[in-house]
Amino acid sequence: MTDFCFDIKPLFPEAIIKVSSDLLPQNFSGKRFMCADVTLKMAEIIDRMGQLSATAQDLINPVTTAQRLEKSDNQTVYLMADGKEGANGVVVGLLKVGTKDLYLYDETGQVHKVQRAPAVLDFYVHESRQRCGLGKELFEAMLAEEKWTPSKLSVDRPSQKLILFMARHYGLVRTIPQANHFVLYEGYFHGVSPSMPLLQATKSVPAILAAGSESQHTSAMTFHVGEANYRKRRLQDPQQQSCSTTDLLSSRCNSDCSMAEIIQGSRARGTNASHAADGQISGTNVRHT
Ligand code: ACO
Repeated sequence: MTDFCFDIKPLFPEAIIKVSSDLLPQNFSGKRFMCADVTLKMAEIIDRMGQLSATAQDLINPVTTAQRLEKSDNQTVYLMADGKEGANGVVVGLLKVGTKDLYLYDETGQVHKVQRAPAVLDFYVHESRQRCGLGKELFEAMLAEEKWTPSKLSVDRPSQKLILFMARHYGLVRTIPQANHFVLYEGYFHGVSPSMPLLQATKSVPAILAAGSESQHTSAMTFHVGEANYRKRRLQDPQQQSCSTTDLLSSRCNSDCSMAEIIQGSRARGTNASHAADGQISGTNVRHT
């Protein structure tokens, strides 16, 4: 359980709080010295929870840190606490979301520039509280606050547990293969007319990037290809590295492969599968080292 040497209860007027770049709980008001104290404590909570999340996902570096949140103007961290546990209360979950400018494939294989795409970036519930419904509660609070719907989310390299979570609670299984490590679910593009002209999917990623760089709007666009340190996972036993989404959904797979990796495996073999359930990953592309 994640406890701290200070009382967390004053920071959590409700079980779930929302924190943005000011590192203050939403609607927090107080004198300047109080704000300084609260931001210090909040930074400690975010850093610790971010580190626990990274460890749980076997990531080399945490995705969520207070410093990174402070520097962003489009990311939000939701934190969940249990004020009744122990003298100081405990923090039990973290969910980081944000918006990203992304190039995304639709079901027909055309590329869209999607600006401010809602994205799930990091998600963690303490091991001692997993599979008790807290993740769903935290996720629902985020959806209500952001006014987002699950099928319209892009998910950054989901873990097995998150893949199963999305299937279990939102019936989201079939995905649209992407060239980056975001996972989109079928329905993502339904009812949405593309805001930018489409590029043909037959172009290579460098060609698309080159085309994108000619546009005045594209400097912030990212394909998230080859990023050096972001969401890198540790290498694992190669014997554990082959599974399919079908295996995941029937809990037969023990490897730590992500849906994006499954999809990339299937793309790499040129299968052009329309959903990841057909994809098998190979030992060579499971981990990004
Ligand atoms: N094994 C299999 N499925 C699991 C597991 C598990 N150990 N844990 C959660 N799930 C899935 C299942 O679908 C489960 O339903 P079931 O129990 O009926 O099979 C469902 O999630 C449970 O839902 P909740 O209880 O609401 O979710 P929970 O509180 O467990 O939180 C979360 C889900 C955040 C994914 C949690 O399991 C966790 O922290 N995992 C470790 C870190 C992680 O993998 N985070 C996602 C990284 S990817 C990203 O953040 C973009």
